[in-house]
Amino acid sequence: MQTVSVNLGARTYPIHIGESLLTDSAQLSALLVPLIQGRQVAVFTNDTVARLYGQTVYDALKDYAVDVFTMADGEAFKNLDTYRAAMDFLMEKRHNRTTCLIALGGGVVGDLTGFVAATFQRGVDFVQLPTTLLAQVDSSVGGKTAVNHPLGKNMIGSFHQPKAVVIDPLVLKSLPAREYAAGLAEVVKYGVIADHNFLVRLEAQTQALNRRDSTLLGEVIKRSCEIKAEIVAKDEVETGVRALLNFGHTFGHALENLSGYGVWLHGEAVSVGMIMAARFSEELKLLENGQAERLQKCLDAVNLPTALDSPLSVDEMLGSMGMDKKAADGQLRFVVTSGFGQAEVIDSFSDQSLKRVLTEFFQG
Ligand SMILES: NC(=O)c1ccc[n+]([C@@H]2O[C@H](COP(=O)([O-])OP(=O)(O)OC[C@H]3O[C@@H](n4cnc5c(N)ncnc54)[C@H](O)[C@@H]3O)[C@@H](O)[C@H]2O)c1
Repeated sequence: MQTVSVNLGARTYPIHIGESLLTDSAQLSALLVPLIQGRQVAVFTNDTVARLYGQTVYDALKDYAVDVFTMADGEAFKNLDTYRAAMDFLMEKRHNRTTCLIALGGGVVGDLTGFVAATFQRGVDFVQLPTTLLAQVDSSVGGKTAVNHPLGKNMIGSFHQPKAVVIDPLVLKSLPAREYAAGLAEVVKYGVIADHNFLVRLEAQTQALNRRDSTLLGEVIKRSCEIKAEIVAKDEVETGVRALLNFGHTFGHALENLSGYGVWLHGEAVSVGMIMAARFSEELKLLENGQAERLQKCLDAVNLPTALDSPLSVDEMLGSMGMDKKAADGQLRFVVTSGFGQAEVIDSFSDQSLKRVLTEFFQG
């Protein structure tokens, strides 16, 4: 087992990464027990994940009074109705401030559990047991918690750090192929924004990544968590460098919005968005020509989309990006790369250059 620390003063916590941590209840118990203050625990999960890994978690907690809150599976249920049902559940089961919530699942379960933990009795402890690649390298680390509002994703939320994150790379074996690839988009992003050598290693090992080689995945998850932890430690509530994590996301969110709910997985839209962001970086002469194509090859090789089936309207795309919640004070901001391994936020550029990139991209 390897451990990465998220250094946030009094809120510092470990990310434990090791094979079989979610199938070996003794190992898991040794990690969880020291974190639990009282006698009560609530496991939050969904049926899909509970069927696969629930029993290990219940066995690991056999000395506690364990209540299981099973939510419906899917982004559509990361909402206020499920939040309300979770609050009712904790009240009816008489949980008190010493309770510990355990999020067992992907980013949907993790985000909802985190927000319930942030607000139940003004904040209780929670632990993340992420089971998708996206959750393991991204959503379980950093303390962003939220539910969706009908008018906007993640609009109701708060920052609330977990007590620990426990990651078993072997659980990725059961993940559907598209979900697995979507997580790889965020992994490649870390290489692009923060570690050129990491990107080079990913490019060289796409076949092993596609095989879900668990030794390689353990290393890849660790490096991804290290990069995210380092950025979060510098900027816990996103007033500065944490925005670099949004590389490809401004374009990606616009694609998601314009294509309609459920067409793209988030990581798929981010994959295409990263190509756009790299091409924009080339257009601005920050990135050497040919690097966007190099990134495209890497993303293609791990089965991620890098182009659109049918072109979108440039004007609609621009409009959708202006609406993006990451546009500060009406000023459109973009994360660009000035050479793989580094990134920066820009808010001054010519509209023409952005239009040119989008037009050329949509023309294929
Ligand atoms: N908090 C953050 O910082 C942050 C960052 C990025 C994304 N997010 C959020 O994360 C959510 C997306 O998370 P996600 O991509 O993990 O999706 P998800 O939670 O919907 O999981 C994807 C699917 O895989 C299933 N699943 C989970 N683990 C499995 C396993 N090991 N084997 C088989 N099936 C499994 C789930 O039941 C689900 O059907 C979005 O709501 C997004 O807003 C949050």
